[in-house]
Amino acid sequence: MTALFIRNASQLVTLQGNSHAPRVKEAMSELTIIENGSVWIENGIIHAVGKDEYLVAKYKGRLHEAQIIDASGKLVTPGLVDPHTHLVFAGSRESEFNMRLEGATYMEIMNGGGGIHATTIATKAATKDELFNESYERLNQFLLHGVTTVEAKSGYGMEWETELKQLEVAKELNERHVIDVIPTFMGAHAVPREYKENPEAFIDLLIKVMIPKVAQLGLAEFNDVFCEHGVFTPEQSKRILEAGKIHGLIPKIHADEIEPYQGAELAAEIGAISADHLLKASEQGMKAMAEKGVVAVLLPGTAYFLMAESANGRKMIDLGVPVALSTDCNPGSSPTVSLPFIMNLGCMKMNMTPAEVITAATINAAHAINRAKEIGSLEVGKKGDITIFNVGNYMKLQYYYGVNHTDTVVKNGKVVVR
Ligand code: NIG
Ligand code: FE
Repeated sequence: MTALFIRNASQLVTLQGNSHAPRVKEAMSELTIIENGSVWIENGIIHAVGKDEYLVAKYKGRLHEAQIIDASGKLVTPGLVDPHTHLVFAGSRESEFNMRLEGATYMEIMNGGGGIHATTIATKAATKDELFNESYERLNQFLLHGVTTVEAKSGYGMEWETELKQLEVAKELNERHVIDVIPTFMGAHAVPREYKENPEAFIDLLIKVMIPKVAQLGLAEFNDVFCEHGVFTPEQSKRILEAGKIHGLIPKIHADEIEPYQGAELAAEIGAISADHLLKASEQGMKAMAEKGVVAVLLPGTAYFLMAESANGRKMIDLGVPVALSTDCNPGSSPTVSLPFIMNLGCMKMNMTPAEVITAATINAAHAINRAKEIGSLEVGKKGDITIFNVGNYMKLQYYYGVNHTDTVVKNGKVVVR
C-alpha cells in the first residue's frame, strides 16, 4: 500500500508556513492546530492536511487503497527533530557521573584525561561493527521517543582514522536505519592529549588535512567546534570554521557552555547556522544572533546533568532569537535520547511554553540542520514524518511529565513504531 491516512486527531499540530525561515518571538507559539485533523500521505510524501471531513471527501473513491490509522483522542505532530547529538560513540561514563556527584567538575575530569578523552579511547578501540551496533540501538531508542531525524557529530577520534570511522558509521546508519542521520564533522571537539603543548599543530592538521578530506569525501554537511576556555579560543574556532566554509561545510558552534566566551558573538559574525548550548551567552551575543537569524540550539538536558543553570531560553525568545531544542545525546554531559524530556526541561528550566517547545523540537530544529524544506512541519510536499502521542492536547505532552507518550511513529509515510 502506498497511501497512509491518519485520521481524526483531536489536535493536529501542523506548524505550517515557516519553511523559509525559523519561527521567532510570538510565532514560536503559533502551532496552527487543526481539530479533528487528518493527513493523507502517498509515496512517503504528505499530499493533504486538513479537517477529517474535508480529506474524506477529497479521497472518497480511494479510501480502500490506504492504510488507515485512527488518531482520535490523540495528538499528531511533525516527527521530532534532534539537531545536536554525539550519536556515534563507544562505551559509557557512569563512573564520571559518580565522581561529579562527589564534587568533581566536568572540566576537571576532562583535563585529567577523562571526559571526552575517555570516550575517544573507547571509540578508537571499537570496531566499526561495534560502533554501528551501539549507535543503531540508540537510534531505535530515539525512534521510540518520537524522533525521526537526528544530527550526529564526529569528534571522538580527533585523528583521521577514528574521525573517518565515526563519519562512515553515521553514513551507514543513515542508509540502514529508518531515522535520517545528518552528519557533522567535529574534529575540533578537544585538543588531543598529544597536542597539549602545541595546539596550533593540531589546528593546522584540522584545517589543512582533515576538513578538506571530509568535504571531498562528502562525509559531513556541517563543521562544529567546542569554543570554550581551555579548549579552542574564539580566534582558533573562527579559523577552523572559516576553513570549513571554504570547503562547503556549514559552521556550527558549541558556544558559551561553561564560561562566557563570546561564542554567540562569533556565531553571528561568521554566519553559523546555529550556536549551541549558550548557558553563559551575553545579551549582546544573543542580540547579534537574533539579528543574523542564527538558531540557538538549547540543551537543557546537559545543564540538568551537569547541575548547571540552563541557558536563558526565555530571554532569547523575547529578543527574537530562533530557539531549537536538542538532547545533546552523548556519554558525558547528556546520556539521554528523550527529546520529550528535554522539551519538559525547556518548560521547567527555561520558562518556555508547551507550544514553544514543540516549535523548538520540530520546525526550528529542522532549520538548525538546514532541512526545513523537507521536514519539521506537516504540509503538502514535505516528508511523511509524523509522531502520534497518546495525549488529547499539546499542553498535556509537557504537563503529564516523565512518561513516554509516543504512540505511533511514521517515517517517510511508513508506520515504524506502533
Ligand atoms: O556537547 N561540550 C562538548 N561536547 C559535548 C560533551 C561531550 C562529552 O562529554 O563526551 C557536549 O556537552
Ligand atoms: Fe554537544
